[in-house]
Amino acid sequence: MTVRLEPEHLVLQARDVRFDWADVPLHWIPGDPVATHLINVLHMLLPAGEEWFVRVFKEALPRIRDERLREDVLGFIGQEAVHASSHDGVLDHFQEQGLDVRPFLRQVEFVFEDLLGDRGATGDRARAWLVERISIIAAIEHFTGVLGDWILNADALDAAGADPTMLDLLRWHGAEEVEHRHVAHDLFMHLDGSYAARLRAMAQTITMLTLLWSRGHRFLMARDPLLNGRVRGGLHHLRRTGPAGLTPDRRMVGASIVRYLKRSYSPLGEGSTSQALAYLAASPAARAARR
Ligand SMILES: [Fe+2]
Ligand SMILES: [Fe+2]
Repeated sequence: MTVRLEPEHLVLQARDVRFDWADVPLHWIPGDPVATHLINVLHMLLPAGEEWFVRVFKEALPRIRDERLREDVLGFIGQEAVHASSHDGVLDHFQEQGLDVRPFLRQVEFVFEDLLGDRGATGDRARAWLVERISIIAAIEHFTGVLGDWILNADALDAAGADPTMLDLLRWHGAEEVEHRHVAHDLFMHLDGSYAARLRAMAQTITMLTLLWSRGHRFLMARDPLLNGRVRGGLHHLRRTGPAGLTPDRRMVGASIVRYLKRSYSPLGEGSTSQALAYLAASPAARAARR
């Protein structure tokens, strides 16, 4: 039996990574645009989503009464800001290859900037809206941690010949998601901790992410200049790509939601910090950032 020792009290730090997209093909999982675009939806959601995390967490900073948590939140903010700008680089590369994603990005920005944005409230209302948004971020961060753990272990993508630069972006990001997977939950528990609010936030998050992911995939499949709309997009494709290991398996994600809904849930039960750190020590982009 392998016993994995998990490190404690990590200081979260942003890594200043750079990626060169010039040689990355549009269908970076060779011959499988359906699976490629199921993952590509993330590139369209993450920049606006993670910039929103950063704004909300900065707003929460003055309310934190625990130095250790404050340090974690600052580390989280630094990491998410680099994530957002790194995925933006992929979108520029899509644009150069004739895949114009701007119409979909406007929909994503509407969600994160208008629906979930600052409402100019004050006093108790401002606090309630802040806590509600943090509960949603904690639920989203459950998924980014689970997906981060998945991508670190998705050997099927290597076997399929997926582009190494894209895999490094996804695994560097996934590893940092695993590394900081407890922070949003800790912040929510520090400021509120209501079980009912956690349930409500998970229901909202599942609805929002399912809609955005399915719309995003249909959009990419329709707009991809190499496909001419021949294959209709949608999450039904996960029935093939999930079991094949090219995208997350729905049953794996479903089981993780059941764990989230337990009162005893801890984000540290999802994924492995030591595996994430091992990837970050070997990641070409993270190593170059250290030099
Ligand atoms: Fe992130
Ligand atoms: Fe995150």
